[in-house]
Amino acid sequence: MTVSTEELLLSRIRDVADHPIPGVTFKDITPLLADPEAFAALTGALAELCVRYGATKIVGLEARGFILAAPVAVTAKLGFVPVRKAGKLPGATLSQAYELEYGTAEIEVHAEDLATGDRVMVIDDVLATGGTAEASLELIRRAGAEVAGVAVLMELGFLGGRARLEPALRGAPLDAL
Ligand code: PRP
Repeated sequence: MTVSTEELLLSRIRDVADHPIPGVTFKDITPLLADPEAFAALTGALAELCVRYGATKIVGLEARGFILAAPVAVTAKLGFVPVRKAGKLPGATLSQAYELEYGTAEIEVHAEDLATGDRVMVIDDVLATGGTAEASLELIRRAGAEVAGVAVLMELGFLGGRARLEPALRGAPLDAL
């Protein structure tokens, strides 16, 4: 990705102070999604990573990850698999719980969507604490599939997500555009 593309993407991410709670600055990607040039540049860069790492399937993490992963899957000509918050998928699922700062959360995937022989790329908008991405890697491996890599638009470095994710990556790449 060129410096000017990186600058374009950065310029379309809006900081919203005190959202969703006082003291938190929310990274809003809606200006980027509304700009066709920026959205296409982002989709293209993520698709390029999927091809480079030999992915055969794309997993998107609910909900903002869906917005990015679906066009990436179409661009890279790969299937899209949704990883959803618990209770949303209608078929037989694999579930994975993970720790939040306060309490736990759970994500699920349709068991039939991933199988041995798949090389799966995980796409999301933000890597924060890394808990969601870490749980998704667990789901992928429990389904018998291999992890091709994780790619996100941005990484909030001060939350330590990369370090948390490192062991679960087992050498697979983590790219933050
Ligand atoms: C956000 C973001 C990532 C996750 C990152 O999703 O889109 O999926 O949190 O956080 P982590 O690295 O600390 O796990 P959120 O759960 O807010 O859901 P949304 O996309 O539905 O808004």
